Amino acid sequence: MLKDKITNKEVVFGVVGLGYVGLPLAVDFAKEGFEVIGFDVVPAKCQDINNGTSHVEDISDAVLASVTGSTGKGFITATADFSKLQEVDAVSICVPTPLVKTKDPDMSYILSVCEQLKKYLHKDMLIVLESTTYPGTTEEILVPLVEEAGFTVGKDIFIAFSPERIDPGNQTYQFKNTPKVIGGVTSDCTEITCSLYDQVVDTVVPVSDTKVAEMAKLLENTYRSVNIGMVNELAQMCHILGIDTNEVINAAATKPFGFKAFYPGPGLGGHCIPIDPHYLSWKLKTLNYNARFIELASEINTDMPNYVVQLAGEKLNDMRLSINGSKVLLMGISYKENISDMRESPAVDVFKILKAKGADVSYHDPFVAEFKFNGSVEKSIDISPDVIQGFDLVVITTWHRDFEVTALVENAKAIVDTRNATRGIRDNKIVRI
Ligand SMILES: NC(=O)c1ccc[n+]([C@@H]2O[C@H](COP(=O)([O-])OP(=O)(O)OC[C@H]3O[C@@H](n4cnc5c(N)ncnc54)[C@H](O)[C@@H]3O)[C@@H](O)[C@H]2O)c1
Repeated sequence: MLKDKITNKEVVFGVVGLGYVGLPLAVDFAKEGFEVIGFDVVPAKCQDINNGTSHVEDISDAVLASVTGSTGKGFITATADFSKLQEVDAVSICVPTPLVKTKDPDMSYILSVCEQLKKYLHKDMLIVLESTTYPGTTEEILVPLVEEAGFTVGKDIFIAFSPERIDPGNQTYQFKNTPKVIGGVTSDCTEITCSLYDQVVDTVVPVSDTKVAEMAKLLENTYRSVNIGMVNELAQMCHILGIDTNEVINAAATKPFGFKAFYPGPGLGGHCIPIDPHYLSWKLKTLNYNARFIELASEINTDMPNYVVQLAGEKLNDMRLSINGSKVLLMGISYKENISDMRESPAVDVFKILKAKGADVSYHDPFVAEFKFNGSVEKSIDISPDVIQGFDLVVITTWHRDFEVTALVENAKAIVDTRNATRGIRDNKIVRI
């Protein structure tokens, strides 16, 4: 019985998609003594993982090496051979769920996993979808897959949705101490999935079905997108009124109830917050409902890089310069502090808009040595007081831990600070969002 196998840690646990979400999941299951098989379409990535080389910052090579290099309980074997799915008892799907150009969901990754999975379905198997997606996906895609193969969901094969909540770079909350929401297709599906995850996370949160679990994840990310959109608009209003936005937010945050502080920035980044709410608005659009908050927040947040460039233009104008021809340095190009993740980075949009307006743009980012831009490779430059003095303007786009604010302020001619890195410093050369 699957349940007994779970209790005795005898299930072979499969993880499909070994990226920011899947690799930490595989490592945590292996650390808890499970045999893990990781699946990825990129053979070189599998090879690296098997050699103990991690491509995810939250997992060090040392940690990865401690759970690779052998097989069986407590070890991960990564493979691009999907026939090994027949060896797994429980499998979590952690593949990307991006948007296509029209901002509609790109379900191709999940569908391609399903194509593989259906060849290797077997009795007493648990399938957990962890990729963020629109409400109804599990019921619309996974349930028919299993039923068409002649199995009964909740009896032969168990299916659940359990959203991933990993926050790359977060030192306080990681997989183990972040409660895990789980919604099964049937109550047995929920129970069996909870019994598995209960062995690796401190708290499991069962909910009544897969749609609740899918929607809970979208609420979490829509909540962030909408609140960030609101403070991004607040920042623009404060700028017009000549008020320091961050001081306003910090003052409001002293209220001990009913207020949670969000801070403005150059726009949304990463694989989640700029994308996930569109899964929800897309689904609602198919039902003739317009998700107004999502659309408005997206409009404001997407426009933030333009607003940053507007501030850059104003600052240069104060110095009788134009964007066209000015030398601009971006501090930080990844989407958030202390990680190298470039997905949807708003700093790249700022870079692009400034370049399009004729600025001579460079960037400094210790986490991102280079990135591809318009067919060429842009490289991070080293900085020193002399180098900083050579720029007309510095834009703080992502504030990494080793950046030094005093040296930057001392040497920069002008600064647009989108991250409140210069808080407390009164200097006319600085404009803060
Ligand atoms: N990154 C985050 O912070 C985060 C947080 C919560 C939820 N999520 C969600 O988790 C899911 C995965 O995100 P991620 O950040 O890990 O993505 P990622 O791009 O880092 O990793 C996805 C991995 O899946 C592999 N892959 C692609 N197609 C595949 C296939 N058909 N079969 C097997 N492997 C395949 C890719 O090669 C890659 O290694 C997404 O739905 C995302 O929205 C991400």
